[in-house]
Amino acid sequence: MKVLNFGSLNYDYVYNVDHAVTPGETLSSSNMETFLGGKGLNQSISLARAGVPVFHAGMVGEEGGQILEACAKSGVNAEFVRQIPGKSGHAIIQLDKNAQNCILLYGGSNRKITKEFVDEVLSHFEKGDVLLLQNEINELDYIIDRAYEKGMQIALNPSPFDSALDACDLKKVSIFLLNEIEGGQISGETDPEKILDVMMGKFPDSRVVLTLGSDGVIYRDKNQTCKQGIFKVKAVDTTAAGDTFTGYFIASILAEMPIEEALRMCARASSITVSRMGATDSIPTMDEVKEALKG
Ligand code: RIB
Repeated sequence: MKVLNFGSLNYDYVYNVDHAVTPGETLSSSNMETFLGGKGLNQSISLARAGVPVFHAGMVGEEGGQILEACAKSGVNAEFVRQIPGKSGHAIIQLDKNAQNCILLYGGSNRKITKEFVDEVLSHFEKGDVLLLQNEINELDYIIDRAYEKGMQIALNPSPFDSALDACDLKKVSIFLLNEIEGGQISGETDPEKILDVMMGKFPDSRVVLTLGSDGVIYRDKNQTCKQGIFKVKAVDTTAAGDTFTGYFIASILAEMPIEEALRMCARASSITVSRMGATDSIPTMDEVKEALKG
């Protein structure tokens, strides 16, 4: 069984600010750094660092060489990442004094996916293989339909939540990984229990992982509900915390780990990410997570 992550690859321009800039305001930043990120790349690197061999599919632009090098260095198989003319995707991230972020995306090459490219990539995968998706690339609905036809198991992090998801047949998704904002947008509810009730009503055979920021996470499927709190750490940068959770969760499902144990491991992994700067750079290895769980 193979794991494919079809997703975004970004340069992240991170600006340290007192607070996120408000409409009409001009604000100076105290520092600026460039990191590699993108929900897709972060989740592939999280899977790889959790010990899962992962294929990443996507597009980078002319200046995307550093991203390809990062894939190679992190053990992410990038044979399905194409380098095309034009700019790579990027994100402008404001990181405030409480380590909270605001993210503005520029799609660039992430939005140049073609149906032909999707068909080409999926021709290398088969029934039972796992497909992980986020919502930072185009042709998401087409990818879901073709992968489902092949009998692949589809996991979706519907982030950012926008109208592109309206075209997607979400009944074809077996695992949803979403935060409370996305959960609210998908269900029309704000209370986590109600969000999960609506999700299970709409998608009764799926597994749902609902992350709740400082309130931890709730998992639900048709047989069980499990909760896990956060591991408190000094937060430096919350970017990629959710992506770390997603990669580690898929890894734990593949390892057939009991859900309670899986959630604990994922929460510990995310807490390490939060304690470090940057997106891909901050994601821990499985050895680091196991060591931290002993403490
Ligand atoms: O989830 C964090 C990621 O969202 C960042 O790395 C940024 O690139 C955006 O895609």
